[in-house]
Amino acid sequence: MKKIISVVGARPNFMKVAPLHYEFLKHTDRIQHLICHTGQHFDEKMSKIFFDELELPEPDFYLGVGSGSHAEQTARIMLAFEKVLLTENPDLVIVVGDVNSTMACSIVASKLSVKVAHVEAGLRSFDRTMPEELNRLVTDVLADYLFVSEKSGLRNLKNEGISNDKIFFVGNVMIDSLVRFTSKIDRSEILKSLDLENSGYVLVTFHRPSNVDSFESLKALTNLLNRIAILRKVVFPVHPRTHKNLMNYNLADIFNPNIIITEPIGYIDFQKLTKHAELIITDSGGIQEETTYLGVQCITVRDSTERPITAEVGTNQLIGADFQKVETTALEVLNGNIKNGNIPELWDGKTAERIIHTILEKI
Ligand code: UD1
Repeated sequence: MKKIISVVGARPNFMKVAPLHYEFLKHTDRIQHLICHTGQHFDEKMSKIFFDELELPEPDFYLGVGSGSHAEQTARIMLAFEKVLLTENPDLVIVVGDVNSTMACSIVASKLSVKVAHVEAGLRSFDRTMPEELNRLVTDVLADYLFVSEKSGLRNLKNEGISNDKIFFVGNVMIDSLVRFTSKIDRSEILKSLDLENSGYVLVTFHRPSNVDSFESLKALTNLLNRIAILRKVVFPVHPRTHKNLMNYNLADIFNPNIIITEPIGYIDFQKLTKHAELIITDSGGIQEETTYLGVQCITVRDSTERPITAEVGTNQLIGADFQKVETTALEVLNGNIKNGNIPELWDGKTAERIIHTILEKI
Protein backbone atom coordinates (compact mmCIF):
# COMPACT_ATOMS: atom_id res chain seq x y z
CA MET A 1 0.00 0.00 0.00
CA LYS A 2 1.37 3.43 -1.00
CA LYS A 3 0.67 6.54 1.02
CA ILE A 4 0.04 9.84 -0.76
CA ILE A 5 -0.55 13.22 0.89
CA SER A 6 -2.22 16.01 -1.09
CA VAL A 7 -1.78 19.55 0.16
CA VAL A 8 -4.45 22.24 0.12
CA GLY A 9 -4.01 25.71 1.55
CA ALA A 10 -6.02 28.41 -0.11
CA ARG A 11 -9.38 28.67 -1.84
CA PRO A 12 -8.24 27.92 -5.41
CA ASN A 13 -6.70 24.62 -4.26
CA PHE A 14 -9.86 22.88 -3.12
CA MET A 15 -11.49 22.37 -6.54
CA LYS A 16 -8.19 20.97 -7.84
CA VAL A 17 -7.66 18.38 -5.12
CA ALA A 18 -11.29 17.21 -4.99
CA PRO A 19 -11.18 15.41 -8.38
CA LEU A 20 -7.90 13.73 -7.40
CA HIS A 21 -9.46 12.53 -4.17
CA TYR A 22 -12.48 10.94 -5.91
CA GLU A 23 -10.16 9.26 -8.37
CA PHE A 24 -7.95 7.87 -5.62
CA LEU A 25 -11.05 6.39 -3.97
CA LYS A 26 -11.22 4.01 -6.97
CA HIS A 27 -7.82 2.61 -5.97
CA THR A 28 -8.08 2.10 -2.21
CA ASP A 29 -6.54 -1.35 -2.59
CA ARG A 30 -3.26 0.28 -3.63
CA ILE A 31 -3.34 3.86 -2.36
CA GLN A 32 -4.05 5.52 0.95
CA HIS A 33 -4.82 9.13 0.05
CA LEU A 34 -4.59 11.70 2.83
CA ILE A 35 -5.35 15.42 2.70
CA CYS A 36 -3.33 18.04 4.53
CA HIS A 37 -4.92 21.49 4.91
CA THR A 38 -2.31 24.07 5.86
CA GLY A 39 -4.95 26.56 7.05
CA GLN A 40 -3.61 29.37 4.84
CA HIS A 41 -7.28 30.14 4.23
CA PHE A 42 -9.33 29.47 7.33
CA ASP A 43 -12.67 31.31 7.13
CA GLU A 44 -15.90 29.37 6.79
CA LYS A 45 -16.51 31.14 3.46
CA MET A 46 -12.95 30.76 2.11
CA SER A 47 -12.45 27.16 3.14
CA LYS A 48 -15.06 25.07 4.99
CA ILE A 49 -17.89 25.67 2.53
CA PHE A 50 -15.63 24.35 -0.26
CA PHE A 51 -14.97 21.10 1.60
CA ASP A 52 -18.70 20.66 2.13
CA GLU A 53 -19.78 21.56 -1.38
CA LEU A 54 -17.02 19.64 -3.14
CA GLU A 55 -17.88 16.65 -0.93
CA LEU A 56 -14.36 16.37 0.46
CA PRO A 57 -13.78 14.56 3.74
CA GLU A 58 -12.40 16.44 6.75
CA PRO A 59 -8.68 16.93 6.17
CA ASP A 60 -6.48 14.28 7.79
CA PHE A 61 -4.08 17.00 8.95
CA TYR A 62 -4.93 20.62 9.67
CA LEU A 63 -1.88 22.83 10.24
CA GLY A 64 -3.78 26.02 11.17
CA VAL A 65 -1.05 28.38 9.99
CA GLY A 66 -3.34 31.37 9.22
CA SER A 67 -2.17 34.67 7.73
CA GLY A 68 1.07 36.59 8.02
CA SER A 69 3.82 38.01 5.88
CA HIS A 70 5.03 35.74 3.10
CA ALA A 71 8.05 34.65 5.10
CA GLU A 72 6.02 34.06 8.26
CA GLN A 73 3.30 32.12 6.50
CA THR A 74 5.72 30.06 4.42
CA ALA A 75 7.91 29.30 7.42
CA ARG A 76 4.96 28.24 9.60
CA ILE A 77 3.71 25.92 6.87
CA MET A 78 7.18 24.40 6.50
CA LEU A 79 7.63 23.80 10.23
CA ALA A 80 4.24 22.16 10.60
CA PHE A 81 4.39 20.14 7.38
CA GLU A 82 7.81 18.76 8.22
CA LYS A 83 6.33 17.19 11.35
CA VAL A 84 3.57 15.58 9.29
CA LEU A 85 6.05 14.10 6.83
CA LEU A 86 8.38 12.82 9.54
CA THR A 87 5.49 11.00 11.21
CA GLU A 88 3.72 9.80 8.09
CA ASN A 89 6.62 9.09 5.76
CA PRO A 90 4.50 9.17 2.59
CA ASP A 91 5.55 7.87 -0.83
CA LEU A 92 4.40 11.01 -2.62
CA VAL A 93 3.27 14.55 -1.85
CA ILE A 94 0.91 16.22 -4.32
CA VAL A 95 0.79 20.00 -4.47
CA VAL A 96 -1.51 22.02 -6.72
CA GLY A 97 -1.49 25.53 -8.13
CA ASP A 98 0.76 28.35 -7.05
CA VAL A 99 -0.04 29.52 -3.53
CA ASN A 100 2.40 29.79 -0.64
CA SER A 101 1.32 26.37 0.65
CA THR A 102 2.27 24.83 -2.72
CA MET A 103 5.83 26.10 -2.57
CA ALA A 104 6.35 25.61 1.17
CA CYS A 105 5.30 21.95 1.10
CA SER A 106 7.33 21.22 -2.03
CA ILE A 107 10.47 22.46 -0.32
CA VAL A 108 9.82 20.41 2.82
CA ALA A 109 9.06 17.22 0.90
CA SER A 110 12.05 17.56 -1.42
CA LYS A 111 14.43 18.10 1.49
CA LEU A 112 13.14 14.93 3.11
CA SER A 113 13.57 13.10 -0.20
CA VAL A 114 9.85 12.55 -0.56
CA LYS A 115 8.74 12.64 -4.20
CA VAL A 116 6.66 15.65 -5.23
CA ALA A 117 3.97 15.87 -7.91
CA HIS A 118 2.91 19.35 -9.03
CA VAL A 119 -0.51 19.64 -10.59
CA GLU A 120 -0.81 22.76 -12.78
CA ALA A 121 2.92 22.88 -13.49
CA GLY A 122 4.61 25.08 -16.07
CA LEU A 123 2.31 28.10 -15.98
CA ARG A 124 4.28 31.35 -16.17
CA SER A 125 3.22 34.99 -16.13
CA PHE A 126 6.88 36.06 -16.45
CA ASP A 127 6.10 38.67 -13.81
CA ARG A 128 8.26 38.06 -10.78
CA THR A 129 6.53 40.77 -8.77
CA MET A 130 3.66 38.26 -8.39
CA PRO A 131 4.22 36.00 -5.37
CA GLU A 132 2.55 33.19 -7.30
CA GLU A 133 5.19 33.33 -10.05
CA LEU A 134 7.95 32.74 -7.51
CA ASN A 135 5.94 29.89 -6.00
CA ARG A 136 5.55 28.31 -9.45
CA LEU A 137 9.22 28.58 -10.30
CA VAL A 138 10.41 27.04 -7.03
CA THR A 139 7.81 24.29 -7.06
CA ASP A 140 8.54 23.25 -10.64
CA VAL A 141 12.27 23.11 -10.17
CA LEU A 142 11.79 20.75 -7.22
CA ALA A 143 8.93 18.59 -8.47
CA ASP A 144 9.53 15.03 -9.68
CA TYR A 145 6.30 14.78 -11.67
CA LEU A 146 4.93 17.86 -13.42
CA PHE A 147 1.33 17.71 -14.59
CA VAL A 148 0.61 20.38 -17.17
CA SER A 149 -2.80 21.89 -17.94
CA GLU A 150 -2.12 23.77 -21.20
CA LYS A 151 0.49 23.67 -23.95
CA SER A 152 2.27 26.87 -22.86
CA GLY A 153 3.30 24.94 -19.75
CA LEU A 154 5.16 22.40 -21.89
CA ARG A 155 7.09 25.14 -23.67
CA ASN A 156 7.96 26.94 -20.43
CA LEU A 157 9.25 23.83 -18.67
CA LYS A 158 11.28 22.86 -21.71
CA ASN A 159 12.82 26.34 -21.84
CA GLU A 160 13.73 26.04 -18.18
CA GLY A 161 15.57 22.82 -18.88
CA ILE A 162 13.22 20.47 -17.02
CA SER A 163 13.68 16.97 -18.31
CA ASN A 164 10.95 15.70 -20.59
CA ASP A 165 10.39 12.45 -18.73
CA LYS A 166 9.07 14.33 -15.69
CA ILE A 167 6.45 16.25 -17.68
CA PHE A 168 2.91 15.03 -18.40
CA PHE A 169 0.33 16.97 -20.41
CA VAL A 170 -2.93 15.95 -18.74
CA GLY A 171 -5.32 18.91 -19.06
CA ASN A 172 -7.02 21.05 -16.46
CA VAL A 173 -8.09 19.32 -13.27
CA MET A 174 -10.25 22.25 -12.14
CA ILE A 175 -12.55 21.59 -15.07
CA ASP A 176 -13.13 18.09 -13.64
CA SER A 177 -14.88 19.74 -10.68
CA LEU A 178 -17.02 21.90 -12.96
CA VAL A 179 -18.06 18.85 -14.96
CA ARG A 180 -18.73 16.71 -11.90
CA PHE A 181 -20.94 19.29 -10.23
CA THR A 182 -22.82 20.55 -13.29
CA SER A 183 -26.25 19.49 -12.10
CA LYS A 184 -25.68 20.75 -8.57
CA ILE A 185 -24.57 24.09 -10.04
CA ASP A 186 -27.67 24.22 -12.23
CA ARG A 187 -29.86 23.68 -9.17
CA SER A 188 -28.30 26.58 -7.22
CA GLU A 189 -30.83 29.18 -6.09
CA ILE A 190 -28.37 32.07 -5.98
CA LEU A 191 -29.90 33.93 -8.94
CA LYS A 192 -33.25 33.86 -7.21
CA SER A 193 -31.86 34.97 -3.88
CA LEU A 194 -29.97 37.91 -5.40
CA ASP A 195 -32.97 38.80 -7.59
CA LEU A 196 -31.03 38.28 -10.81
CA GLU A 197 -33.31 35.82 -12.57
CA ASN A 198 -34.65 38.30 -15.06
CA SER A 199 -31.77 40.68 -15.52
CA GLY A 200 -28.36 40.60 -17.15
CA TYR A 201 -25.51 41.25 -14.74
CA VAL A 202 -21.76 41.63 -14.56
CA LEU A 203 -19.87 39.51 -12.04
CA VAL A 204 -16.73 41.02 -10.55
CA THR A 205 -13.90 39.66 -8.38
CA PHE A 206 -10.68 41.38 -7.35
CA HIS A 207 -8.05 40.28 -4.90
CA ARG A 208 -4.56 40.65 -6.46
CA PRO A 209 -2.28 42.82 -4.33
CA SER A 210 -1.43 44.86 -7.47
CA ASN A 211 -5.10 45.84 -7.84
CA VAL A 212 -6.36 46.09 -4.28
CA ASP A 213 -3.46 46.97 -2.00
CA SER A 214 -3.06 50.64 -2.98
CA PHE A 215 -5.61 53.42 -2.51
CA GLU A 216 -5.22 54.61 -6.11
CA SER A 217 -6.01 51.32 -7.80
CA LEU A 218 -8.79 50.45 -5.38
CA LYS A 219 -10.37 53.86 -5.97
CA ALA A 220 -10.06 53.38 -9.74
CA LEU A 221 -11.74 50.00 -9.34
CA THR A 222 -14.68 51.41 -7.38
CA ASN A 223 -15.08 54.16 -10.02
CA LEU A 224 -15.14 51.55 -12.77
CA LEU A 225 -17.78 49.46 -11.00
CA ASN A 226 -19.91 52.52 -10.35
CA ARG A 227 -19.88 53.38 -14.06
CA ILE A 228 -20.73 49.84 -15.14
CA ALA A 229 -23.54 49.79 -12.58
CA ILE A 230 -25.29 52.54 -14.54
CA LEU A 231 -25.84 49.97 -17.29
CA ARG A 232 -26.16 46.64 -15.51
CA LYS A 233 -26.45 45.13 -12.11
CA VAL A 234 -23.02 44.25 -10.78
CA VAL A 235 -22.39 41.38 -8.39
CA PHE A 236 -19.22 41.80 -6.36
CA PRO A 237 -18.31 39.05 -3.87
CA VAL A 238 -15.55 40.64 -1.85
CA HIS A 239 -12.37 38.71 -0.98
CA PRO A 240 -11.05 39.23 2.61
CA ARG A 241 -7.94 41.07 1.37
CA THR A 242 -10.07 43.45 -0.73
CA HIS A 243 -12.56 43.90 2.11
CA LYS A 244 -9.84 44.81 4.56
CA ASN A 245 -8.41 47.40 2.17
CA LEU A 246 -11.80 48.90 1.26
CA MET A 247 -12.35 49.43 4.98
CA ASN A 248 -8.87 50.82 5.62
CA TYR A 249 -9.12 53.32 2.77
CA ASN A 250 -12.71 54.32 3.62
CA LEU A 251 -13.92 53.16 0.22
CA ALA A 252 -16.54 50.68 1.37
CA ASP A 253 -19.51 53.09 1.26
CA ILE A 254 -19.17 54.67 -2.14
CA PHE A 255 -20.77 51.94 -4.23
CA ASN A 256 -23.73 52.56 -6.53
CA PRO A 257 -26.86 50.78 -5.17
CA ASN A 258 -26.94 48.72 -8.38
CA ILE A 259 -23.85 46.90 -7.10
CA ILE A 260 -24.67 43.84 -5.04
CA ILE A 261 -21.84 43.45 -2.54
CA THR A 262 -21.57 40.05 -0.90
CA GLU A 263 -19.17 38.07 1.22
CA PRO A 264 -17.06 35.44 -0.60
CA ILE A 265 -19.44 32.98 -2.28
CA GLY A 266 -19.16 29.19 -2.14
CA TYR A 267 -18.18 27.02 -5.11
CA ILE A 268 -21.62 25.96 -6.34
CA ASP A 269 -23.30 29.37 -6.16
CA PHE A 270 -20.26 31.09 -7.64
CA GLN A 271 -20.23 28.76 -10.65
CA LYS A 272 -23.94 29.38 -11.16
CA LEU A 273 -23.30 33.13 -11.11
CA THR A 274 -20.43 32.65 -13.57
CA LYS A 275 -22.45 30.54 -15.96
CA HIS A 276 -25.24 33.07 -16.26
CA ALA A 277 -23.23 36.30 -16.23
CA GLU A 278 -23.11 38.49 -19.32
CA LEU A 279 -19.55 39.37 -18.44
CA ILE A 280 -17.01 38.73 -15.70
CA ILE A 281 -14.38 41.27 -14.79
CA THR A 282 -11.68 39.72 -12.63
CA ASP A 283 -8.02 39.45 -11.71
CA SER A 284 -8.29 35.79 -10.72
CA GLY A 285 -6.31 33.01 -12.35
CA GLY A 286 -8.86 30.23 -12.12
CA ILE A 287 -11.83 32.28 -13.26
CA GLN A 288 -10.08 32.87 -16.60
CA GLU A 289 -10.18 29.10 -17.04
CA GLU A 290 -13.70 28.48 -15.80
CA THR A 291 -15.12 31.19 -18.09
CA THR A 292 -13.14 29.75 -21.00
CA TYR A 293 -14.72 26.35 -20.40
CA LEU A 294 -18.20 27.80 -19.93
CA GLY A 295 -17.93 30.18 -22.91
CA VAL A 296 -18.61 33.22 -20.73
CA GLN A 297 -17.04 36.58 -21.59
CA CYS A 298 -14.19 37.47 -19.26
CA ILE A 299 -12.07 40.60 -18.95
CA THR A 300 -8.89 40.06 -16.96
CA VAL A 301 -7.53 43.17 -15.30
CA ARG A 302 -3.87 42.22 -15.18
CA ASP A 303 -0.80 42.99 -17.26
CA SER A 304 0.01 39.34 -17.83
CA THR A 305 -1.56 35.94 -17.61
CA GLU A 306 0.06 32.62 -16.78
CA ARG A 307 -2.86 31.02 -18.63
CA PRO A 308 -2.39 32.36 -22.20
CA ILE A 309 -4.57 29.66 -23.75
CA THR A 310 -7.63 31.36 -22.22
CA ALA A 311 -6.89 34.46 -24.28
CA GLU A 312 -5.70 32.57 -27.38
CA VAL A 313 -8.61 30.19 -27.84
CA GLY A 314 -11.00 31.13 -25.04
CA THR A 315 -13.29 34.01 -24.22
CA ASN A 316 -10.73 35.79 -22.03
CA GLN A 317 -9.57 39.32 -22.90
CA LEU A 318 -6.41 40.32 -21.13
CA ILE A 319 -6.55 44.04 -20.46
CA GLY A 320 -3.84 45.58 -18.31
CA ALA A 321 -4.71 47.49 -15.17
CA ASP A 322 -5.95 50.37 -17.35
CA PHE A 323 -9.43 50.91 -16.00
CA GLN A 324 -10.47 53.20 -18.87
CA LYS A 325 -9.66 50.43 -21.35
CA VAL A 326 -11.45 47.89 -19.15
CA GLU A 327 -14.55 50.08 -19.26
CA THR A 328 -14.41 50.47 -23.06
CA THR A 329 -14.01 46.72 -23.52
CA ALA A 330 -16.78 45.99 -21.02
CA LEU A 331 -19.15 48.28 -22.93
CA GLU A 332 -18.28 46.50 -26.17
CA VAL A 333 -19.11 43.15 -24.60
CA LEU A 334 -22.37 44.47 -23.17
CA ASN A 335 -23.25 45.86 -26.60
CA GLY A 336 -22.94 42.38 -28.03
CA ASN A 337 -19.45 42.59 -29.51
CA ILE A 338 -18.55 39.14 -28.26
CA LYS A 339 -15.23 37.31 -28.41
CA ASN A 340 -15.78 33.73 -29.54
CA GLY A 341 -14.02 30.94 -27.74
CA ASN A 342 -13.20 27.25 -27.84
CA ILE A 343 -12.39 24.74 -25.14
CA PRO A 344 -8.65 23.98 -24.86
CA GLU A 345 -7.29 20.49 -25.46
CA LEU A 346 -7.90 17.97 -22.66
CA TRP A 347 -10.13 20.25 -20.60
CA ASP A 348 -12.63 17.42 -20.60
CA GLY A 349 -13.36 16.41 -17.02
CA LYS A 350 -10.96 13.45 -17.16
CA THR A 351 -7.73 15.07 -16.05
CA ALA A 352 -7.69 13.48 -12.58
CA GLU A 353 -8.04 10.07 -14.21
CA ARG A 354 -4.97 10.75 -16.37
CA ILE A 355 -2.97 12.07 -13.42
CA ILE A 356 -3.74 9.10 -11.19
CA HIS A 357 -3.04 6.68 -14.02
CA THR A 358 0.46 8.18 -14.34
CA ILE A 359 1.03 8.25 -10.59
CA LEU A 360 0.06 4.59 -10.23
CA GLU A 361 2.51 3.73 -12.96
CA LYS A 362 5.32 5.77 -11.46
CA ILE A 363 5.17 4.89 -7.78
C1 UD1 B 1 -3.97 33.66 -1.77
C2 UD1 B 1 -2.92 33.23 -2.79
C3 UD1 B 1 -3.37 33.63 -4.18
C4 UD1 B 1 -4.76 33.13 -4.47
C5 UD1 B 1 -5.70 33.63 -3.38
C6 UD1 B 1 -7.12 33.17 -3.57
C7 UD1 B 1 -0.54 33.24 -2.11
C8 UD1 B 1 0.70 34.01 -2.18
N1 UD1 B 1 -1.65 33.88 -2.57
O1 UD1 B 1 -3.99 35.08 -1.76
O2 UD1 B 1 -2.48 33.09 -5.12
O3 UD1 B 1 -5.18 33.63 -5.72
O4 UD1 B 1 -5.21 33.13 -2.13
O5 UD1 B 1 -7.93 33.69 -2.57
O6 UD1 B 1 -0.55 32.12 -1.65
N2 UD1 B 1 -7.89 36.18 5.03
C9 UD1 B 1 -9.00 36.05 5.81
N3 UD1 B 1 -9.62 34.83 5.84
C10 UD1 B 1 -9.17 33.77 5.12
C11 UD1 B 1 -8.03 33.93 4.34
C12 UD1 B 1 -7.40 35.15 4.29
O7 UD1 B 1 -9.45 36.98 6.47
O8 UD1 B 1 -9.76 32.69 5.20
C13 UD1 B 1 -7.20 37.48 4.99
C14 UD1 B 1 -5.82 37.34 5.57
O9 UD1 B 1 -5.79 37.64 6.91
C15 UD1 B 1 -4.97 38.27 4.75
C16 UD1 B 1 -5.74 38.40 3.44
O10 UD1 B 1 -7.02 37.86 3.65
O11 UD1 B 1 -4.89 39.53 5.33
C17 UD1 B 1 -5.04 37.70 2.33
O12 UD1 B 1 -4.83 36.32 2.62
P1 UD1 B 1 -3.52 35.54 2.10
O13 UD1 B 1 -3.61 34.11 2.46
O14 UD1 B 1 -2.34 36.29 2.52
O15 UD1 B 1 -3.53 35.66 0.55
P2 UD1 B 1 -4.64 35.90 -0.57
O16 UD1 B 1 -4.63 37.32 -0.94
O17 UD1 B 1 -5.96 35.30 -0.18
